[in-house]
Amino acid sequence: MSLTLDQLDAKARGILIDNDRGGYTIPTSGLYPYQWNWDSVFAAYGFATFDMARAWREMRSLFSGQWENGMVPHILFHKESRGYYPGPDIWAGIGPIASSGVTQPPVAATFIRKMYEAAPAEGARHLRDLFPKLKRWHGWFMKHRLHRDAVCVTHPWESGRDNAPDWDGAMRRMVIGELEPYTRADTAHVDPSMRPTKFDYDRFLWLVKLGREARWDEVKLAEAPAFRVADPTMSFTLLRANRDLEVIAAHLGEDGSEIAGWIARLELGCQTLWDPDLGAYTGRDALTGAFSGALSNASFLCWYAGLGNAQMLAHLRRVLSEVSYGVPSHDPSAEGFDARRYWRGPVWAIMNTMIGLGLAKAGHAEEAETIRAQTARLISDHGFAEYYDPLTGAPAGGHDFTWTAAVWLAWVRKENGRD
Ligand code: SER
Repeated sequence: MSLTLDQLDAKARGILIDNDRGGYTIPTSGLYPYQWNWDSVFAAYGFATFDMARAWREMRSLFSGQWENGMVPHILFHKESRGYYPGPDIWAGIGPIASSGVTQPPVAATFIRKMYEAAPAEGARHLRDLFPKLKRWHGWFMKHRLHRDAVCVTHPWESGRDNAPDWDGAMRRMVIGELEPYTRADTAHVDPSMRPTKFDYDRFLWLVKLGREARWDEVKLAEAPAFRVADPTMSFTLLRANRDLEVIAAHLGEDGSEIAGWIARLELGCQTLWDPDLGAYTGRDALTGAFSGALSNASFLCWYAGLGNAQMLAHLRRVLSEVSYGVPSHDPSAEGFDARRYWRGPVWAIMNTMIGLGLAKAGHAEEAETIRAQTARLISDHGFAEYYDPLTGAPAGGHDFTWTAAVWLAWVRKENGRD
């Protein structure tokens, strides 16, 4: 029996509340039992629709794990939990809270700005406290992660798109040594056909080992990197986040000139991700200069960053005509498209959200509304899954998923693509 919109809203709020571990929210129980960086930002975006104080608490808890150098880790291991690998001992992060050693797409400034502008009186104190932390994090990217002014990832997990085709070339090139025997936990929770392969995991863990051995020293790691790929996810989200941070600075009466300089650099840097053969934005190996040639949902974050163009719009219209539920993580016409395997085909509600927000702002109201309406149908017919088959809508990965519930409340039902 299908649920009414009110029942779906109640269910979404219930998921956020159930996944709350006391000031921070886990993405889903079992598969991901800790605080993840961008998942947590989306959790706050969802909480802000019914409990603004709780939303600010989420943001503050994320930044409580910020490292001395400004980096905000991708996982904070607040309390030891079984059933996840690799855990705190394998990562050996060097921050104030046990953590991983890599970061994740910097979406926080964008959603913090939204929270503040929705209720300025309530948000003023939090905005003032968080602004310097956001600026240090963005500054860390600008200092350590630019390659020709696009933003690089040093681990596929940083991008959030763990097994995306954008990393294939760099992953194949990587020479790995002996690894300690390990047991994956993810495939005990989720059908292995929906997860990255062993080839991927061996390399993911090799990169963790290299980082840990370098004590996560960015300068040392940059001397002879095993993996360094300029990533559309990072580049577009950081550009957008800096635009929002500049507005936050203005709200606070702070000097925004350094941020303006970052925006100018990234606007140019993002153009180095334009692959003329593909006629689209894509990942680019910083070590070889090779484009990945993949048209992914991260390519379509260009409008979110304020950079769309007619060629990208033509790609978008074609992709939307080939699937039923928004923007898949890989081009459905490309070789290797896999409708169920994580970031190699499935559709993700948060990516639909960011793409939709960007399109609406750029004046492409029709496409934004199509994606929003398809996401609404996806969730109401198939539940609050981690990700979905973009052709059938079949749910995949974890269930009762925080960020899917959050964007249902905040974007599908509330903003309606108006941003
Ligand atoms: N997404 C990763 C995992 O699946 C970690 O960030 O474990």
